[in-house]
Amino acid sequence: MKVVHTIRDLRDQMRGHDKVAFVPTMGNLHEGHIKLMRTAADYGDPVVASIFVNRLQFGPNEDFDTYPRTLTEDCEKLQANGVYCVFAPLEKEIYPVPQDYRISPPHDVADILEGEFRPGFFGGVTTVVMKLFSCVQPRVALFGKKDYQQLMIVRRMVQQFALPIEIVPHETVRAPDGLALSSRNSYLSETERAEAPWLYAILKSVQTAVQSGEKNLVQIEETATQQLSKRGWKPDYIAIRKRSNLQRPTAEEVIAEEKLVVLAAATLGKTRLIDNLEI
Ligand code: PAF
Repeated sequence: MKVVHTIRDLRDQMRGHDKVAFVPTMGNLHEGHIKLMRTAADYGDPVVASIFVNRLQFGPNEDFDTYPRTLTEDCEKLQANGVYCVFAPLEKEIYPVPQDYRISPPHDVADILEGEFRPGFFGGVTTVVMKLFSCVQPRVALFGKKDYQQLMIVRRMVQQFALPIEIVPHETVRAPDGLALSSRNSYLSETERAEAPWLYAILKSVQTAVQSGEKNLVQIEETATQQLSKRGWKPDYIAIRKRSNLQRPTAEEVIAEEKLVVLAAATLGKTRLIDNLEI
């Protein structure tokens, strides 16, 4: 497996490959990432991963400085799972000058849910994803459904810019107790780790309520939010939305059984977790 740190070396490695399957990451890889790498091999050849902690998508009070950087361990895992090349640039390689040209995703999808609580997040994500796509030039790129809103926004960006890249969603990978795997789970204390699966449990209860015909979605969201708060979490949102555009469904759409998803973000101790479940 080749580990390259510059765009020039990456392009040398990519020469002659027109079916690349790409998995962008910020490193600190867990089993969820590894499953993405293995699935990527079904969609293209070779598999290329990137590891880059992207400053543009972190807010001023977020964990950019402390985000775990574990390149050696990450590369061992990638090598063991059939990845052909890892692009692990330094910050000055991706942002040699201030990144003044940026992607600006539309407000209706980028300033709701995660975007409301992390202003500028999706602008930062789409800008780096566009840049990584331009460096790697993949045919296919895989994104986990745990970051549901990110997946939707990247997909729309690819459509609107007519990028010749197929975006493949990957199911969220969960621990046996239901907790969605995430690099940030490593911030949880032992007690918090034992509590953390409640986020998924509450999403399941929302799913059950909707599936059993309950039509008052606001009430369902409020009950779920109160349940989490009572357990000591600080919920940012628990929101039942249309899968198609993440907007609230109208009463008519609920009756017509529009396809829905429930998305949640909540802080446990000092760790902010997100998760979602299609209904
Ligand atoms: O999902 C992530 O890990 C990041 O948002 C991504 C897509 C690698 C962009 O930095």
